[in-house]
Formats: sequence, C-alpha cells, structure tokens
Amino acid sequence: MAALGLGASACRDDGGEDDGAMGESGSGTGATGDGSGSDGSGSPGTGSGESGDAMGPWSSLDERPCPDGSFLTYESFGGGFMLTYCTGCHHSRLPADTRQGAPIEVSFDDLEDIRAWADRIWARSGDDNDTMPPVGPASAEDRARLGEWLACGAPADADLGM
Ligand code: HEC
Repeated sequence: MAALGLGASACRDDGGEDDGAMGESGSGTGATGDGSGSDGSGSPGTGSGESGDAMGPWSSLDERPCPDGSFLTYESFGGGFMLTYCTGCHHSRLPADTRQGAPIEVSFDDLEDIRAWADRIWARSGDDNDTMPPVGPASAEDRARLGEWLACGAPADADLGM
C-alpha cells in the first residue's frame, strides 16, 4: 500500500498548483475529523471486504476505492451535487465577472468536464477535502458520496444499465 502510494502520488504532489490546496485541506481534515469519522463507519464499509484501503483518508482519487455495488450516478447524485455546490462559479456560460474568481478554464458544464477534472474535484471537495466551495462546504456525507461516485468513474444511469 505504501509502495503504491509512493509511486502514484509522488509526481502529483510535486505539482505547483497542489501546494496551496494540500495545506488547506490538511487543516480542514483536522477540523472535521470527528464528523467524517462517524460517517465513515457507516457508509464506505458497505459491501467491500477490504479493510485497510476502504476507510481512508486517501491522498488522491487514485487511492480512493469504488465500493462494490455502488449505485450513485450522474442523474441520481453527481449532476445535482455539482449544480448545488460548484457551477454557480464554475460554468462556461457564466460571464467572467460573475465567476467570483473561479479560473475561466475550470468549468464543470457536463459529465465530460466533470470526468476530465475528476482528480481535482476530488482533491478540493471529495471525502475529507473541503476547500471547495470556498464558503459553506458540502456535508461530510455528501463529500463521501462525491468521493465514491468519482472513484467509480462518475457513471451515468446508462453506464450502470439503469
Ligand atoms: C463561490 C465561487 C466558487 C464555488 C461555488 C466553487 N468554486 Fe472552485 N474555485 C473558486 C475560485 C475563486 C478558485 C481559484 C482559487 C482556488 O483554487 O482556491 C477555484 C478553483 C477551483 C479549482 C481549480 C484549482 C485546483 O485546485 O485544481 C477546482 C478544481 C475547483 N475550484 C473545484 C470546485 C468544486 C469541485 C466546487 C464544488 C464542490 C467548486 N470549486 C465551487 C470559486 C468557487
């Protein structure tokens, strides 16, 4: 597990743009440790027999497992989550002066955009990460769902045969 982490995340962590986010999410984790801990015992356990990797905290989306039997989809969860928490600033149709500083190239208009940005979406808002949105983060429960949905490849209903 440690060896895997080394290989997979070493280059990612060297990325300049990660530094600020990592620092902030570190303190965020401390502050919300109690809440997510109790939440964690309930949800990620479902279905999967792996004990170590199943609980987190994970340092990247690559490490975050997709639990067996996950049924979250774009239609049932992901689309609504992004609409509620993100696209108020991160949508390409928003005039530049209404994005409240959200970088112009970081837009989550549709499932394709979300999949392309999945690593960074997770790193800012999934599981223990709560630095996006900048104010009023999603509940620990919704962040855990976001982590699960992204880790499972951000499926749509059609991908799961629904
Ligand atoms: C109130 C406006 C606002 C909302 C809502 C918002 N963001 Fe941001 N976002 C920003 C600003 C400002 C920046 C640039 C500063 C920074 O990176 O912290 C940014 C940058 C980003 C970046 C690019 C930097 C990086 O870390 O890769 C990502 C990814 C991101 N936001 C994800 C999200 C996600 C996911 C949500 C929803 C859960 C969200 N944001 C909601 C304002 C917003």
